[in-house]
Order: sequence, then C-alpha cells, then structure tokens
Amino acid sequence: MARKWAPESWRDKPIQQVPDYPDPAALAAVEERLKAYPPLVFAGEARRLKAHLASVAEGKAFLLQGGDCAESFAEFHPDNIRDTFKVLLQMTVVLMYGAACPVVKVARMAGQFAKPRSSPTEVRDGVELPSYRGDIINGIEFDEQARRPDPERIIKAYNQSAATLNLLRALAQGGYANLHQVHRWNLSFVAGSPEGERYEHLADRITEALAFMEACGLTVEAVPQLREADFFTCHEALLLPYEQALTRIDSTTGDWYDCAAHMLWLGDRTRQLDGAHVEFLRGVKNPLGLKAGPSLEPDELIRLIDILNPGDEPGRLTVIARMGADKVEVKLPPLVRAVKREGRSVVWASDPMHGNTIKSKTGYKTRAFDRILSEVKGFFAVHQAEGTHVGGVHLELTGQDVTECIGGAQEITEHVLADRYHTHCDPRLNASQALELAFLVAELLEDVRAGGMKRVAAAS
Ligand code: PEP
Ligand code: CO
Repeated sequence: MARKWAPESWRDKPIQQVPDYPDPAALAAVEERLKAYPPLVFAGEARRLKAHLASVAEGKAFLLQGGDCAESFAEFHPDNIRDTFKVLLQMTVVLMYGAACPVVKVARMAGQFAKPRSSPTEVRDGVELPSYRGDIINGIEFDEQARRPDPERIIKAYNQSAATLNLLRALAQGGYANLHQVHRWNLSFVAGSPEGERYEHLADRITEALAFMEACGLTVEAVPQLREADFFTCHEALLLPYEQALTRIDSTTGDWYDCAAHMLWLGDRTRQLDGAHVEFLRGVKNPLGLKAGPSLEPDELIRLIDILNPGDEPGRLTVIARMGADKVEVKLPPLVRAVKREGRSVVWASDPMHGNTIKSKTGYKTRAFDRILSEVKGFFAVHQAEGTHVGGVHLELTGQDVTECIGGAQEITEHVLADRYHTHCDPRLNASQALELAFLVAELLEDVRAGGMKRVAAAS
C-alpha cells in the first residue's frame, strides 16, 4: 500500500535546495495568502496535455518544450513573451512539416522562476553571500539585501505568471496563432538570415496548402486547429511552498492538481527517491517530467517510475535525458532498455542544454551549438538502435536576439558573448539558433519517418 499523500506530506521528508528564509512566519503568511488566490491553470487542461503526451509516447506526436532557463522580473515585458511565443510557433511549423505529426507545445514560461544551485553560497573577492536562486526567491545583485530570500517575491512571481499566462492564452486563441499568420511570426532580426529565408520558403508552402484546403471548403472558420494553438506551460517544481499553495482539488474528479502549471518536472538535483520533491509530485495528477542526468542508474529510474507512475498511465511521465553530447550514447541506452524490459510507458525527451554547459575563456557560462546538436543526434541514434520513439526536445531559448550560446549559422564567438548576454541563469539559444536547431531536428525526424516507411515497405 502506498503511503498516504497530502499536499503537505513533503514537509516530513529530507529536502534539497531550500532557501534559508530569515523570517519563516513571513513565508507562512505568504503561503496562506497564495492559497486564497485563483489557480493559474485548470485540471481539465492538465488532463488534455496528458492525453497529448500519451500520443507522443506512442510515436504519434512530438513534444516541443522550451523557454527561459529562469524567468526574471527584469525581462518581464509583453514583447519578450510574444517573441518567445513566436519562435515556439515557428519551430512548431518546421517540426510539423518534418515529422508530419502534431507538435505538443509546452512553454517554460509563467512560473519558471526557481533555480537549483551547485553551491548554497557564492564568494566574490572574499565576500560570501547566499547564491542567487531565482527571482521568486532572491535578487541576482551581489549584495546582502538582494541575496536575502524574501517571501514577497513569491507573490510577485505569481502575479507575473498570471499576466504572462493571460497573454499566452490570448496569443494562442485570439487569432495570432492562426496559420494564415505564418509569415508574420518571422522575427525581424531573423528574417534576412539563412534560416529566416528557409522559414519564409516553408511559410510560402503552408500558405499555398491553406489556399488549396480553403478551395476544398476547409476554412479557418470550419477548422479551429488552423486558427488556434494548443499551448501549455511547465516549470521545475522546486519551490514547494509555492507549488503546495497552488495545489487544489479538482471538483470533477476529486483529484489533486498543481494548478501553478500544466506540467511540472523534477530537477536532476532533487529526484531523490525518499526526498520531498518526489513525495510532492507523486500525489498531483499533472503530467510530470523527470530530468535524467548521467548519474541516474537504471534501477533507480525504475523505482522512480514505480513511485511517480504506479498505474503506468501513458502521458503521465516524460523522462528528459540531459546527459551531455559525449555521454548520451553510453548513459541513455541502459535507461531505455530498463524501461522497455519493465514494459513501462514513458515519453523520452532530450534536453541537450544542461549536459553541455561550459565556461568560455571570457568568463561567461555558454553552450556550443554543435554540442547541442550532437547530443540531439546521439539521442536519436540511441532510440533508433533500441527501437523506441523519440518523444521530443526540451530547450532553453528566447525570442530575443541574445548572444549567450556560441556557434550556429550566425557564428557567435566567445568574444561577442558580452554584447547581449542577458540570461539570469543558463545560456539560451537565440531565435535564429532555435529555428536553425528546429530545421535540423526536423531533418532527423524525416529520416526516422523514411526509415519507418522503408520498414513497412520491406515487411509488406
Ligand atoms: C533546468 O532545466 O534549468 C535545470 C536546472 O535542469 P537540470 O535539473 O536538468 O539541471
Ligand atoms: Co537551465
């Protein structure tokens, strides 16, 4: 019998990555306030996403998860939200064309604030202060006051998430995501680049296809899928007081849902079997992600699956492998084989960002585009060899023209990283790099499809 679960049962478990709030009473008061605030998403939406992810698990759809490493108060602006939304839509179109299957879009937005850190403190010039843990907890400036965890930031992050989600919903359903707008999604600074032009060609073909469909009577008025995008949100369920306060009972089913986002994931640093984060997530019915780094052993993964998805429900669990380009082909196959041997259903997604972070000679944290691509290719190769489905990709990206990752067609070098390096945590692909990666992933998907067709032809 599984132990009894309650939204607060995580509090009795060992916990990692907790901020040291100087005033626990102030934190408790904020939690009480937040418990009375409206949910950000609804249980029915989370169930719809789970159903979409079940088709991803079967190889009938592809998952695109992406957005900031860390949202911030400073970068909060409607243009930034719109531009990340645009680049995700562009990538969707490119992937849909390559994979010839639906793309499930899940944005790391509207709640992706809290960050796990490798060390609880940071030392600069002999001064030691608490590490920056994300704007929902403390400030990035290196001074004592900013670095002190402040519970009022939780309320600010909630409000920013609500406003972000409101705009995302309007963009997804209010006409902006209408396929007839496919040319308008090209961001101005991308338009003249090779990948921008490649995108324009694709957009031309889509416009032609729409004209043909309209001639057949399939108009945007008649087919909602042509004028609206199904758009979901996700973040790492790291700051459990926030997640608990937004966890509500669904009146339709009587089940608990974490209504802070549609999908929540467990970070690579907080996936201890007996830990607080696993305890919290096992009890909410949202679709879940599990980051799988190189230290995850196959039997540990199976035990995590037993806890997080005991009923083996398709779409409930996405394993997000973040091994590093040089490790993916060694570390991933044992995990894939163990899951296959146990007959468990998971979505396999690739996060090619977090295992490939390096420090540039100029001192910036960065990632090289070719290492990112190389991890994605390794991920595809493993699934091809094991006969399992590539479910999707999980990326850190932005619609802005930043210089945070090196390489790509723009050939960003270490020396220009300083020009527009704005991230509050890890380096993100800019819009051109994200689009370029989407084209390359689409080619890999086309190969998988061609291979599948060849297999069908050979069998018949
Ligand atoms: C992240 O996704 O930003 C992150 C911290 O990932 P991981 O837990 O895989 O290191
Ligand atoms: Co990150």
